[in-house]
Amino acid sequence: MGHDDARHGAKQPERFDATRAHVLDDKERFAYVDPVLIADLLAPALGARADGARATLVDFGTGTGTYALELAKRFPAVAVLALDEQPEMLAKLGAKPEFATLPNLRAIEPPALAELAGCVDAVLALNVLHELGDDALRSLVALLRPDGLALVIDWSADVERPVGPPNDHVYGAAAARERLQAFGLRAAPVGGFPYHHAFLARR
Ligand SMILES: C[S@@+](CC[C@H](N)C(=O)[O-])C[C@H]1O[C@@H](n2cnc3c(N)ncnc32)[C@H](O)[C@@H]1O
Repeated sequence: MGHDDARHGAKQPERFDATRAHVLDDKERFAYVDPVLIADLLAPALGARADGARATLVDFGTGTGTYALELAKRFPAVAVLALDEQPEMLAKLGAKPEFATLPNLRAIEPPALAELAGCVDAVLALNVLHELGDDALRSLVALLRPDGLALVIDWSADVERPVGPPNDHVYGAAAARERLQAFGLRAAPVGGFPYHHAFLARR
């Protein structure tokens, strides 16, 4: 399958340029995408499980793992799986000194997804919906346990922004929600992100 075929359905079918990975490490992002707010939104899905198993969170399209690191620190009892399709992005995460200090954080590549299907308590997809082809979005939804939660946050085409991709590369809130619903997710909007739309979504 060609690269563009694999990304069919994405608003921005070009792969994220790994030479721009440094922009993902700019902590100024935290002013408008607060990792504490993200953790608070995910927390209800990451408590102790009735079956006694450790809760699992997948950061789908983790990039350099900026947010996966924050979440692994906030939830030491949760297995945080930082997923990216570009091994060079995961290498940048692995090279961060903090990575080695967090035994609950692991970097994974897409072949690992099959055995996680139906086993994941929560998924974070930050700044990635516009890059996900239909197959990838289907595999994201398939990860969730029946009561699992996906937090999908992406740049909004509805607002003028001084940062982020051009508006014609991303979705407006209504189109994003429709796309999530078309893939079997009930998506409830949440606020708190001035340049992004955000949805708490369940199967
Ligand atoms: C714009 S970056 C956002 C990274 C991170 N979520 C953040 O906000 O710091 C998007 C990342 O998603 C990854 N990605 C895109 N499609 C993917 C897919 N189908 N599976 C796994 N990773 C994907 C890209 O390689 C890139 O590293």
